[in-house]
Amino acid sequence: MYTDEMLESMKKVAANRNSNAAMEPRRMTAEEKDNLLAAFHPDYKKSEFAELKMGPNKGEKVPIELASLLQGKSRIENYPVDLSSPDYDADVLIIGGGGAGSSAAIEAHGAGAKVVMVTKLRIGDANTMMAEGGIQAADKPNDSPAQHYLDAFGGGHFAAKPELLKKLVTEAPDAILWLNHLGVEFDKAPDGTMITTHGGGTSRKRMHAAKDYSGAEIMRTLRDEVLNRGIPVIDFTAAIELILDETGKAAGAVLLNMETKEIKIARAKTVVIATGGAGRLHYQGFPTSNHYGATADGLVLAYRAGAKLLYPDTLQYHPTGAAFPEQIYGALVTEKVRSLGAKLINRDGEVFMHPLETRDVSAASIIRECGERNKGLTTPGGKGLWLDTPMIELKNGEGTIEKRIPAMMRMFGKYGIDIRKEPILVYPTLHYQNGGIDISADCMSAVPNLFVAGEAVGGIHGRNRLMGNSLLDIIVFGRSAGLSAAAASKNASTGKLSLEHVKRFAEERKAAGIADPEISPRLLPSYSHGNPRAGNVLK
Ligand code: FUM
Repeated sequence: MYTDEMLESMKKVAANRNSNAAMEPRRMTAEEKDNLLAAFHPDYKKSEFAELKMGPNKGEKVPIELASLLQGKSRIENYPVDLSSPDYDADVLIIGGGGAGSSAAIEAHGAGAKVVMVTKLRIGDANTMMAEGGIQAADKPNDSPAQHYLDAFGGGHFAAKPELLKKLVTEAPDAILWLNHLGVEFDKAPDGTMITTHGGGTSRKRMHAAKDYSGAEIMRTLRDEVLNRGIPVIDFTAAIELILDETGKAAGAVLLNMETKEIKIARAKTVVIATGGAGRLHYQGFPTSNHYGATADGLVLAYRAGAKLLYPDTLQYHPTGAAFPEQIYGALVTEKVRSLGAKLINRDGEVFMHPLETRDVSAASIIRECGERNKGLTTPGGKGLWLDTPMIELKNGEGTIEKRIPAMMRMFGKYGIDIRKEPILVYPTLHYQNGGIDISADCMSAVPNLFVAGEAVGGIHGRNRLMGNSLLDIIVFGRSAGLSAAAASKNASTGKLSLEHVKRFAEERKAAGIADPEISPRLLPSYSHGNPRAGNVLK
């Protein structure tokens, strides 16, 4: 299955393994990092961005694919919509069935609100489920939320909104206790203390994990809790437009049944957007580690309703997506593999960087090594280089891989690759939307009574996110959005339901001369024509 080039290179990797494992490559200086990012990180590739011609972020640059969706034609133009007799009534309508939406649902329900969750696939079909490496929280004696803040603020290029990042790190220890109490089976030492490891850019070991199934374990627990509480979950039902009332407050959503194509109306006193990320837009033609439904829907709905976005021009390319075999092209190879000691090695068997630089720096460094330096290997999808997994057992002893990263062992094992004995090929994969909807610390967007949590939020992490801070933010901000929405619903009454904002948006679109026929939100990607930049499956 391997090419001759791969086999030759693998021999060099094996020959150098002991000395490479012992080597501690130096970290890059701040100047080296800045130069590297400017030259090789995809966020700096000007030709891949377009200026928005309308809406709250008019004049700002976003990825071309996102610009097209944000300025797209409303999907409701294709369906008859009657707001006069709503099908669902809620205090808190939650759009999205991943970790953030589920956390919001649990807390809003606990606060006594009538909650309805809608999700375009099923509860748990979300990026949360795919998260592997862990969740950060400064809860060990040698650590503190202040230390966590400094790591994340620096890693995010000092661009995080201070009040959001402060909330993230200070509420992190309680988020872990909450999950532990709900039943998440974290990795623990025999004395019951949680096992924690490093991630890229962390100065303390604060990554809590459930092997390398951390997201699946968290999602399993949250889903059970939502269902056990009897919270109604309307699945295979997408929100295709927000509904406001005559004063401009969020008041529900127009829903599309993905199977029958029926339109339903949900009326609500408050709305929580928890629709996740955008990996399935395949920016710049990158593969993705994301879930099938990650198409930036929440950003589109909120933008049309008047909410501002923050840093929508910054994406995270996870340094280690699988580059071989092609069946798993772009799938996540958790950073935990590097935390446990595997190093990145080029075609000549050389370590070319410190394995735990922050993600943007690591991704840019791999792109340079495979591109300008021509030290990568050819794979069916493009290029890749080695992540030397056998180093893990050299460093930590036999059995470590099976015990700590069984999902990785299984994923490659299916294709006959034993990661205990052979290195694996990796290349950056589109992983995370750093930017999103701008919120205040109570999770409210610029649209009154419209709350946001999870990957749809912008500004928590700044312009780059550290590993393990996403599983954390879905819990911290999911819980908070649920509580805020439940509290706001106590004083809210829904006025007359209105879609005037959609009409106004269409007029603005016309006035701006936008002729792009793109319909949005996209809802699901289409791969039917082998298009690497997935198209629109629903017309
Ligand atoms: O590498 C990982 O396990 C990914 C974690 C994250 O994005 O936080």
